[in-house]
Amino acid sequence: MVGRLLYGLPTASHPAYGRVLDALELKASDRLLEIGCGGGHFLARALERAGSAAGLDHSPDMVDATRKRNAHAVEAGRLEVREGDVTRLPWPDQHFTAVAMNQVFFWLPAPDRALAEIHRVLRPGGRLAMLNASARRITKLVMLPYVLGGLRLYTDEELGAMVRCSGFTEVMVESRGLAQWCFARRNDEPGWASA
Ligand SMILES: C[S@@+](CC[C@H](N)C(=O)[O-])C[C@H]1O[C@@H](n2cnc3c(N)ncnc32)[C@H](O)[C@@H]1O
Repeated sequence: MVGRLLYGLPTASHPAYGRVLDALELKASDRLLEIGCGGGHFLARALERAGSAAGLDHSPDMVDATRKRNAHAVEAGRLEVREGDVTRLPWPDQHFTAVAMNQVFFWLPAPDRALAEIHRVLRPGGRLAMLNASARRITKLVMLPYVLGGLRLYTDEELGAMVRCSGFTEVMVESRGLAQWCFARRNDEPGWASA
């Protein structure tokens, strides 16, 4: 109930999410996966650019909210939304050209397993874009109740090392204010691949 209220807010209109969208450079030939799709706002924006998409969330409430918000895309066969955990993605190898994960990484108890799964479902050349919270003192203060509740914040260096260890290349991590972005690619070929 709280999640439905909180994650149903149109946070995806915030410029920090716009940066994730821009970095992914989505096109009609793309098949996007969003992990932890919450209220489905980001997917609604992404589907203005990507040809098709999938959303995954471990909360049935959030799956329902994403389906309702994007009912037209679901009906048109452009969006599928599944319930599941990021460490066991219910799709075959190399199924997606792009993956987005916004405000989820800091909740993951097994982030290395999540990154390995994301790498598995991305095609060679596929790109990953994540929005996280920075590990700065101000973020820790603002998010203190969550930090005390187990939220994990990573420095840019720590996150970059984890993403590289999972097989990604061209890893770029940057923090600004409360936000932290990470962009990376499953690299077998030069250039951002899409189809
Ligand atoms: C803070 S909310 C962010 C929602 C949305 N991405 C946004 O930025 O507004 C985190 C979301 O990730 C989902 N989530 C957390 N851990 C997950 C996991 N291990 N696998 C799949 N979804 C997860 C939660 O149910 C929730 O919808």
